Amino acid sequence: MNTGNKTSLAPFLLAGLQVLLVAATTYVFLSGKYAPPAPITEVGVAIDHQYDMTLLVVAVAFISSQLGLAYVVFRYRDHGQKVLFSRGNNTLELLWTSITAVVFVALGLLGGRAWANSRNLPATPDLMRIEVTEAQFAFNFRYPGPDGKFGRIDPKQVDASLGNPLGLDPADPAGADDVVVPTLTIPVDREVELLFRSQDVIHNFFVRELRLQQDAVPGLIVPIRVKAEKVGRYEVVCTQLCGLGHSNMHTYMDVVSSTDFAAFLKSGGQ
Ligand code: CUA
Repeated sequence: MNTGNKTSLAPFLLAGLQVLLVAATTYVFLSGKYAPPAPITEVGVAIDHQYDMTLLVVAVAFISSQLGLAYVVFRYRDHGQKVLFSRGNNTLELLWTSITAVVFVALGLLGGRAWANSRNLPATPDLMRIEVTEAQFAFNFRYPGPDGKFGRIDPKQVDASLGNPLGLDPADPAGADDVVVPTLTIPVDREVELLFRSQDVIHNFFVRELRLQQDAVPGLIVPIRVKAEKVGRYEVVCTQLCGLGHSNMHTYMDVVSSTDFAAFLKSGGQ
């Protein structure tokens, strides 16, 4: 059977679809319609910069490969010509595999630096620490109070219905001035260390404006430093599927002036 005389629509449709796909995808990113809110930390800016670099590299690879595919589909469509067989080209394979490896390893190394800047930091003695305890399906934030010390916690005394969701031990005087609240308040332009804990399953702490998404893992205390540079209220959500109430597990982070923060601490979190 000779199909060579007929002009098939398929290659035109397929190539057209490829071009459309590239145009639509590029539009989604370039239009900025789905861009995240602006970062409020230096680390957040560095992470955005890293993201943009990765996106640029991936965009070049995506656009050129998809348009290349569209061109090949169109250029080598069946119009009755003789079929050529190719076993590939080892030199070319080696070349683009090496280029890809070098580019992505370099991006990974650069990204590691942005990541480490929020995590592997030197010890600072007068750093303010705030404990973030997550449990199904709530956040609790604990401030050490004027003595600067967290009181002892006793898992046997955990009882949210009695107003002691963390199990603060009343026998320990260091805990008498601890402040436990369901909303996070931090001072603007000052570094604080958040200590992430979980009382049951793995939860998460995600604030888009911080570009921070950190798991809270049972049995671990994970320290992360944050220095927010813009006063405002930001939503905190849990992004680990942690049970039936997961979709409701959220709270707020208030970044306030140092005066407001002092007032907040003085009032015991009211
Ligand atoms: Cu906690 Cu989802």
